[in-house]
Amino acid sequence: MGYEILDVRPLTKRIGAEVFGVDLNAPLGNQAVSELHDALMQHQVIFFRDQSLTYEGHKRLGRYFGDLAGHSAVAGIAEHPEIVAIHADETSTFVAGEDWHSDLSENAEPPMGSILYMHELPDTGGDTLFSSMYAAYDALSPAMKALLDPLTAVHDSNHIYRELFPDVDKKYPRNTHPVVRTHPVTKRKCLFVSQSKTVRINELSKKESDAVLGFLFDHVKDPNFQCRFRWQKKSVAFWDNRCTQHFAVWDYFPDVRSGFRVTITGDRPF
Ligand code: SIN
Repeated sequence: MGYEILDVRPLTKRIGAEVFGVDLNAPLGNQAVSELHDALMQHQVIFFRDQSLTYEGHKRLGRYFGDLAGHSAVAGIAEHPEIVAIHADETSTFVAGEDWHSDLSENAEPPMGSILYMHELPDTGGDTLFSSMYAAYDALSPAMKALLDPLTAVHDSNHIYRELFPDVDKKYPRNTHPVVRTHPVTKRKCLFVSQSKTVRINELSKKESDAVLGFLFDHVKDPNFQCRFRWQKKSVAFWDNRCTQHFAVWDYFPDVRSGFRVTITGDRPF
């Protein structure tokens, strides 16, 4: 793929690229936006260094790719409800994303992507792992693909947020999606189940569902499908939630790690 503006350097052949040559806080022209989209479609998660994103710049960047989505459980920051703080310090009892997941997959229309900007980091640790759900699907045997292709599964977030937030009566989203989805842009097939959110395969008995999901949750953790991003202050990661999962490593307690995330709306998976 040819780029006129961006300098795109893959981290692995399967997932992840570092991107240079763009100031993400500045208004972007059509060519730059189109190249960013191309890079995201090709590498599934793209990383940037030395960016200075203001709240407005962060939201503008997200809106080049779609409307911004709210979070069903976590309120946005003051005066910018579309921006969620990702923060951990010595008082934290959990961190966002500490298990494999695709953001808000429990929504009826899960987001297409998320853009995370980090402004404070521990001296060491706090990396994020990303796994390619194309690579995870492609690595399955034809027989396993044939079993999984027609199945659907329930994605639920109640078991996570009810424990974390005091409002025990609140109902969080719970929706059924295909176990294998087709990416709406690339048309490639990818796995769409995650340890954090997927609770049941509808067409199987509970015992069978637990066994198949257990296998798949283990499968997506294979390092052969992954890249690992070592953050620096002012780094940005932009990932495609439709074909990746991620895992935020919390190996820096009690240090501070702090950033802001916007999430871009997506379509109903098919
Ligand atoms: C998340 O969006 O799941 C958090 C990712 C991170 O903190 O690295």
